[in-house]
This record gives sequence, structure tokens and C-alpha cells, in this order.
Amino acid sequence: MNDTISSDTRFLHAVEMGLGAWQWGDRFVWQYGQGYSDSDIHQAFLSSIAEGIRFIDTAEIYGSGRSERLTGKFLKETDQPILIATKFFPLPWRLTRNSISTALRASLDRLQRETVDLYQIHWPTPLLSVETMMEGMIECVNRGWTRTIGVSNFNQIQMIRAYSVLERNSISLASNQVHYSLLNRQVEKNGLLARCKELGVRLIAYSPLEMGLLTGKYTPKNPPPGSRGGRYANLLGKIEPLIKLMIEIGQEHGGKSNSQVALNWVICKGALPIPGAKNAAQALQNVGALGWKLPDEEVAKLDEASDKIIH
Ligand SMILES: NC(=O)c1ccc[n+]([C@@H]2O[C@H](COP(=O)([O-])OP(=O)(O)OC[C@H]3O[C@@H](n4cnc5c(N)ncnc54)[C@H](OP(=O)(O)O)[C@@H]3O)[C@@H](O)[C@H]2O)c1
Repeated sequence: MNDTISSDTRFLHAVEMGLGAWQWGDRFVWQYGQGYSDSDIHQAFLSSIAEGIRFIDTAEIYGSGRSERLTGKFLKETDQPILIATKFFPLPWRLTRNSISTALRASLDRLQRETVDLYQIHWPTPLLSVETMMEGMIECVNRGWTRTIGVSNFNQIQMIRAYSVLERNSISLASNQVHYSLLNRQVEKNGLLARCKELGVRLIAYSPLEMGLLTGKYTPKNPPPGSRGGRYANLLGKIEPLIKLMIEIGQEHGGKSNSQVALNWVICKGALPIPGAKNAAQALQNVGALGWKLPDEEVAKLDEASDKIIH
């Protein structure tokens, strides 16, 4: 393993895949309550845990706190040690570093825990400097409310500023959570993935299934419901060749599904995917991305097919 990884954050590099919990309560993007319920979500959680997933990513804003509350409730019912990551959202009235520890305290109450394993700044904001945000995060570590500190949606410059403030305080930046999938490879092209590896910062890949598109179940005639329909209207018409190639490659590996190929590709790139799941069937299928590996030639073929779509 990379020498630059500190012993405090090493645990995150040992996690191959996690489970995203944005769907757990969100009505606006994910239509929570339509087609899936708390009991489906509970089954998604239980199936993931039964199959060895030990890392859950939530946020205070997911379902306005419902995702954290459900996660807390489910955690009470298992004796497995589960790593929990949540996030601070820099709402425009949160203008001091103290707002960060106040927000984390409220998250801990919803999660019914005394500490989380990773606390992340959800998005950078011009209203709070990176330095002030990191001071607030350090206070959370000092209070014992989080084991490690991460950022999300930070570009290289912002990430290095965060890294430097923490380094001066002998703390390692654990992670940067960013959009990364076969249909969004900005982090490869702009050097962020390489820089994360160099610094020993774990790149956590969100939307690794491109919000369901990479499963192959959506087409221009059958677009995803809600806001995803508009967001992906253009892209949907172009992805067929990639979806076909993913099916072929999945067949080479004994019938792996598209979601499994998509997640395995992210893992092969050295990132930690956190697919969201609404029910047990999705969760179980996604766990099947583990325990095998795409060879380099197939990763290269997938890169080539994706390049033709997203340039
Ligand atoms: N830091 C950030 O700013 C940020 C932003 C976005 C996400 N995230 C995190 O990343 C996690 C994952 O990203 P995401 O939720 O945006 O997208 P994703 O993981 O790419 O896609 C999840 C969606 O795909 C569909 N799906 C999942 N597994 C499937 C399967 N096996 N077969 C068929 N359909 C399947 C489901 O939706 P349908 O069934 O409705 O299609 C599911 O809700 C989130 O839960 C959240 O924790 C963070």
C-alpha cells in the first residue's frame, strides 16, 4: 500500500466498496415513497451488510435528515462494526467554523452515535474559506465526534488547501468524494484522481452507476423518472454502444450485470464506489461487483467506448 497513506486514514483504503444512502428519504431526485419504502431500504441495508459491505455514506441534507435517522435506526439492529460517513452542508447562514461542530452534533443525534468515522464538507462555498472549514473540522476531531476528515466536490486547488491546513495540525485529509463513473471521467482528465493517489487521499466515487444509467435499464424511450429524465435526455441517446460492450464484457465473466461491470471498473481505477440502492435486489446485485477483477485490456476497451461518448 502507498507509503503516503497515514495510519489514521488507512482503514478507508481497505474499503473496496460502500453503500450510498441519498435514496433513503429523498423525494425530489429519487421519489422516496413511490415504488420503494422504508422496509425496502431496510432490506437494502441488511442485504449489503450480510454480503460484507461495511461502509455507509449519508449526509445531513439527504431527505432533510431522514437518511441519517434511518441509518441510525438500522445500525441499532446490527452488531456488525459499520463505518459511517456523513457530511456538513454549507448552507448560506452557516458562516462560522462553530456551525460545523453544531451540525455534526445534530447528525450524531440522528445517527444515535457518539462518533462517525468520516466527516466531509459536502461542497465548497465562497461564504466560508477552506481554512475556516478545516478549523471547524479539526474541532470535531478534537471533540472526538469524528475519526477522520474528508471533503467532497473539491477541485485540486481547494483540496490541496484543505490538505495543507490539516497537515499543519498533524491531521491527514482522508478523502475527496467526487462524481466518477464510466460516463463522467473528469477526475481522470483533470488530474484529481492522480493527485489523490499521490497524497494518499482516498477518492470516493459518487454516482458510480451514473444515477442508474449504466445499469442499461434506461433508454431514450424509457428515461429515468423525475429530474434525472431532463438531466440525462441528451446522454441517453448516446450510451447504447457502451451498454452493449458492458453486456459483452459481463458475459465474459460468467454473466456479470452492467452495474457490476460499472462498479468493478471504478475499483480498477483505484477509487471507492458508493452505489445507492433502493431495495435488496439492487444492493445484492451491486455487491456482486466484488471478488473478481476486470483485466487491463477490458478496462481499456471500456475507456475507449466511454471516450467516444463523453470525449
Ligand atoms: N457528495 C456528493 O455531492 C454526492 C452526490 C451524489 C451522490 N452522492 C453519494 O453517492 C451515492 C451514490 O450516488 P447516486 O445515488 O447519485 O447514484 P448511483 O449510485 O450511480 O445510482 C443509484 C441508483 O441507480 C439505480 N440502481 C442502483 N443499483 C441498481 C441495480 N443493481 N440495478 C438497477 N438499478 C440500480 C437506483 O435508482 P432507480 O432504481 O431509481 O434507477 C439507485 O437509486 C449516493 O447515495 C450518495 O451517498 C454524493
